[in-house]
Amino acid sequence: MSTHIKIFDTTLRDGEQSPGCSMNLEEKLEIAYQLERLGVDIIEAGFAMSSRGDFEAIEAIATHIHTPTICSLARAIKADIQAAADAIKKAKRQRIHTFIATSPIHMEYKLKMSPEKVIENAVGAVQFAKSFVQDVEFSCEDAGRSDKHFLVKILTETIKAGATVVNIPDTVGYQTPEEYGQLIRFLKETVPGIDKVDISVHCHDDLGLSTANALSGVLNGATQVECTINGIGERAGNTALEEIVMALNVRKATYQAHTNIVTKEIFKTSRLVSTITGSVVQTNKAIVGANAFAHEAGIHQDGMLKMRQTYEIMEPESVGISSTKLVLGKHSGRHAFTDKLKELGFTLTDAGINKSFEEFKQLADKKKEIADEDIEAIVSNKMAIGEDLFHIEDIEVISKIGQKPNATITLKKGSEQVTKTAEGAGSVDAIYKTIDEIVGEEFQLKDYIVQGVTGGTDALAEVVVRLQEKKRTFTGRGAALDVLEASAKAYVMAINKLLAGRGIERIKAQL
Ligand code: KIV
Ligand code: ZN
Repeated sequence: MSTHIKIFDTTLRDGEQSPGCSMNLEEKLEIAYQLERLGVDIIEAGFAMSSRGDFEAIEAIATHIHTPTICSLARAIKADIQAAADAIKKAKRQRIHTFIATSPIHMEYKLKMSPEKVIENAVGAVQFAKSFVQDVEFSCEDAGRSDKHFLVKILTETIKAGATVVNIPDTVGYQTPEEYGQLIRFLKETVPGIDKVDISVHCHDDLGLSTANALSGVLNGATQVECTINGIGERAGNTALEEIVMALNVRKATYQAHTNIVTKEIFKTSRLVSTITGSVVQTNKAIVGANAFAHEAGIHQDGMLKMRQTYEIMEPESVGISSTKLVLGKHSGRHAFTDKLKELGFTLTDAGINKSFEEFKQLADKKKEIADEDIEAIVSNKMAIGEDLFHIEDIEVISKIGQKPNATITLKKGSEQVTKTAEGAGSVDAIYKTIDEIVGEEFQLKDYIVQGVTGGTDALAEVVVRLQEKKRTFTGRGAALDVLEASAKAYVMAINKLLAGRGIERIKAQL
């Protein structure tokens, strides 16, 4: 008998909490469309109370995504639960996910609440959530460091109050697979009524054990796994969806379990999340890293040529990595371009396709072969423009050996157009100083990363910029044949995100 393990994707909530991974509404919706194609059971679309932007993104996802359940996070506080209920109310399938901390250290120092009060609030939260939706998930934050008998008490009461899913997060990534599995088994065997609800695992990767811990949870009775694409998330991240799904898939006999994930969509989803968040996937990352299926050693290559399975436990095609790529060029028409967008996981409006197609044609005039990565870069440039405040109209940089470079830039904001010139230590510095002057403030540059999107000197340059403001990071990315233009685009995009994010001061989520 194979158990169905529900996949609860929290890329748009816990994943978005990773520094620099914040996304705008259009970007979140784009990912949600792809998560739907991937076949996830539940999308945690955000934390409605945390900001206006989160609320609106959840609302948009609830309106446009039809197959998965749409969920919002909420603290065990009435106002949070009300916001979550409002944000998801258009969804066909709705879930409210409410949580409260249960470990002694969190209850004493963070919540400053007695254990009895924590139970009372948890029960009240579940009951209030039940007044809006049938499907209510309750999480014991920092369950991994909580007293297991206290967990029995709070879970017993919250299940009585109507929770349909109970989640046991290892919030700080402290557990080992053996301990975590035993905890899940203990709760499964001890909590009255737990056999009627889903037991969910939510593991963080601080010790690199999140996938192992989640799998141990599954072996011991969990029926839902919370995870993110590429494992993004708070600090070291969460269980990576692609890892948990492929482990269950490749080792079916061991786990006696399956998921509804369309595994051929995995690679595409990973690329999309990486493109949108600017969070680069490490080359040796399991399943989706550039080297995950590359065989370098001669002895391995020899074995592969004789019999693939000598060194390959799964086929790259099973996760959607295809060896034959349809390469576009200057003779490709709108139809081929639209097909390629679909293949890469983008869902654009007609206007979006037109804009991107125009840019594709311009690039194809300068570059013989347009790779998938070039198209991803073009589309992510376009998507970022959605909420922009500033647009680049023109850039001119003069750079001579022995002289300080200077940049003249024209930015447009609404109908207003401003041109300024400034010097810098280098060309990029000159560009950034000029932009700062136009915008009227200096931004704190935290990261500046440049890479070629494909090989060759005619490759598109892709620049990722991270700006820091207080404790928040804003990521911008820009791609262009010219690295200076890409640098300017990335910087302006990060500024636009930062300005849009201002005033929407996120509440201290206490996560
Ligand atoms: O890690 C955690 O405890 C969480 C909860 C809010 C589920 O993300
Ligand atoms: Zn978490």
